[in-house]
Amino acid sequence: METTKKLSALFCFTSLFCLYFTINQTMSESDHMDTFCIKSSRNITHNTTYNTNLNTMLSTFRNKSSIVNYYNLTTGLASDTVYGMFLCTGDVNITTCNACVKNATIEIAKNCTNHREAIIYYYDCMVRYSDKFFLSTLETQPYSIWTADDPIPKTLGPFRKRLSKKMERLS
Ligand SMILES: *[C@@H]1O[C@H](CO)[C@@H](O)[C@H](O)[C@H]1NC(C)=O
Ligand SMILES: *[C@@H]1O[C@H](CO)[C@@H](O)[C@H](O)[C@H]1NC(C)=O
Ligand SMILES: *[C@@H]1O[C@H](CO)[C@@H](O)[C@H](O)[C@H]1NC(C)=O
Ligand SMILES: *[C@@H]1O[C@H](CO)[C@@H](O)[C@H](O)[C@H]1NC(C)=O
Ligand SMILES: *[C@@H]1O[C@H](CO)[C@@H](O)[C@H](O)[C@H]1NC(C)=O
Ligand SMILES: *[C@@H]1O[C@H](CO)[C@@H](O)[C@H](O)[C@H]1NC(C)=O
Ligand SMILES: *[C@@H]1O[C@H](CO)[C@@H](O)[C@H](O)[C@H]1NC(C)=O
Repeated sequence: METTKKLSALFCFTSLFCLYFTINQTMSESDHMDTFCIKSSRNITHNTTYNTNLNTMLSTFRNKSSIVNYYNLTTGLASDTVYGMFLCTGDVNITTCNACVKNATIEIAKNCTNHREAIIYYYDCMVRYSDKFFLSTLETQPYSIWTADDPIPKTLGPFRKRLSKKMERLS
């Protein structure tokens, strides 16, 4: 009996410790959390105007993230229009923001080739682009970046939590 108690206490302790350790491990700065390459009605083909616009946008994001921690951009004309944004969580400085966005823009381009729409989440930042307009909800209400009619997966838990914390602090 005593032994069982002791054992379960030990088990409890170690699993809590493990959990704590795991969280600390997985959630270090600039860690990647999730990437969603979203299937769209059309694929990106290399060398197209859309592709060029997208690359310009990602390059702009890399530059802008050394100045601001949020930016949205619309670039290109008609069916070649790309909508995009990046966002760093409130508790990171601009150096970290810049490093994170740099990484994110490179990774998203690498991992989501052929996709006209994609989102990547890091612990400290996110980058999103699409051939459909999604920026208005963001502007008016940071909380509802990803709501209702958004075809975006709802599994962004940790990032949203971090974002919400920031918003609470701001309001
Ligand atoms: C997009 O590309 C994927 C893989 O290359 C292919 O399976 C899919 O059919 C393509 N979709 C369209 C709409 O061209
Ligand atoms: C792709 O881009 C390269 C360099 O910009 C150019 O030389 C090539 O002709 C283009 N290919 C097509 C199919 O447009
Ligand atoms: C980003 O900054 C670099 C270096 O300052 C510059 O060469 C490049 O043109 C900029 N890119 C964009 C899209 O503004
Ligand atoms: C960001 O989006 C808003 C519309 O929601 C637009 O008015 C604004 O010009 C955009 N900013 C940039 C830099 O594209
Ligand atoms: C930004 O934050 C990182 C991580 O917390 C830290 O290592 C770095 O020194 C900070 N840089 C500045 C300029 O405050
Ligand atoms: C960028 O990502 C790579 C691989 O995911 C990682 O090793 C590196 O530390 C990251 N750097 C920054 C500045 O986020
Ligand atoms: C890129 O995609 C590969 C395979 O789909 C995945 O294992 C990897 O974690 C992804 N990396 C990023 C940074 O999205």
